[in-house]
Amino acid sequence: MSRLVVVSNRIAIPDGSKSAGGLAVGIMDALKNTSGLWFGWNGEISEISGEEEDDLSLVEEDGITYASVPLNQNDYDLYYCQFSNAVLWPALHYRIDLVDFQREAWEGYCRVNDLLARRLQPLIKPDDILWIHDYHLLPFAAALRKLGVKNRIGFFLHIPFPTPEIFNAVPTHNELLEMMSHFDLLGFQTEGDRQAFLDNLGELTTLQPSNTCLHQAFGNTFQTGVYPISIAPDSIRKMAEGPLPPKMAAMERELREAKNIISCERLDYTKGLPERFLAFEALLEKFPQHRGKVRYSQIAPTSRGDVQAYQDLRHQLETEVGRINGKYGSLNQTPLFYLNQHFQRSLLMKLFRLTDVGLVTPLRDGMNLVAKEYVAAQDPEDPGVLVLSQFAGAANELTAALIVNPYDRDDVAAALDKALTMPLGERRERYNDMMDVLRKNDITHWGESYLQDLLAISPHDVAHN
Ligand code: G6P
Repeated sequence: MSRLVVVSNRIAIPDGSKSAGGLAVGIMDALKNTSGLWFGWNGEISEISGEEEDDLSLVEEDGITYASVPLNQNDYDLYYCQFSNAVLWPALHYRIDLVDFQREAWEGYCRVNDLLARRLQPLIKPDDILWIHDYHLLPFAAALRKLGVKNRIGFFLHIPFPTPEIFNAVPTHNELLEMMSHFDLLGFQTEGDRQAFLDNLGELTTLQPSNTCLHQAFGNTFQTGVYPISIAPDSIRKMAEGPLPPKMAAMERELREAKNIISCERLDYTKGLPERFLAFEALLEKFPQHRGKVRYSQIAPTSRGDVQAYQDLRHQLETEVGRINGKYGSLNQTPLFYLNQHFQRSLLMKLFRLTDVGLVTPLRDGMNLVAKEYVAAQDPEDPGVLVLSQFAGAANELTAALIVNPYDRDDVAAALDKALTMPLGERRERYNDMMDVLRKNDITHWGESYLQDLLAISPHDVAHN
């Protein structure tokens, strides 16, 4: 059996103090099956260049080898902050107004991809199959091919892929597409993302339409497929069922006394937080019967705090929360709780279960696993209601959620009112429909179906320049 090598920008090295996220658990499961290797940045910034022999750290745990290297300050700035997160992240989420392109950052992005490829190459065995993750590493297969690596190399994009009108705004879009054509299998979250990618390729030859499609472009042959990422519903349910820590008893009482809306995500402009705050304000304005009875808790830990757009968003949210609470709060009641903090995963699942509405309204999102986790965390006898943006990949599967347009605050306010007053029978029906979907396509199915398709590409099909 071929060994699996996973490469991602960050790797989740187990350290006992943090519980790994759902995706990390899914990847670890796939890696355990083949005593695999997980390679990437260790999240640290070092004085040295990332080229030194002795800065590669190898840790073995539970049958998986974790190999990681640090980045130096310049590479972190150019590759991670600038090109990955101030060009690709906004462009791939359709926010070209936020794209801040600099040629130096593009060069840094390519240089770090080359550097990571050089560090990984000596660890690769001839039979390994490689699975590369996400937008930080679009040039990674091209970088490995330059070094003579012949293994099968797959890629999965966790975020959306935009239409050509949008992607063309990235000055190096052609170079990026050419680099992506060196992967053997490109996996996307939705059919819309795959189609948008193919539309970008223009002069494309498609040879074999099936679950995966075989294409030729830039003199390379590659396949594309759709693999909506998911969660492990049973492990979420178990986490959600356990009791809250005793010191939280008073808070639990308060939660049970009110109607509760909850949201949780990284503090990111793709998540539609200011729009959501305005929708909550519209709920209080247009449906006064909920005033004083409903509370909305927004958990949004800081993310990519070194990038300007994220700092701006944080200030904007702080102002909005103060304004809304100033308007609708009273001496003994706060309508909007905003927590710019990280919450432990199992605590979060318990909070999801205690709340009446999960409000997940990104302006654009590859999938959105929080939407799926909110559903899986519910009590089947008395489930909460999911209000979900039509622009999250998850809306393709969770059609029994209340689907809203996050740009329409009145639409979201009306959905919130409907969710807060929905009869038990309808809540159960919607919950059961969504759980059927989640049980059918869980995280194990996601990993297995992708790897099955990658393994089905026989090495002699791999034709590259
Ligand atoms: C998104 C991306 C991931 C990334 C995560 C956290 O989910 O798709 O690739 O790891 O955000 O972002 P960060 O910049 O903190 O790694």
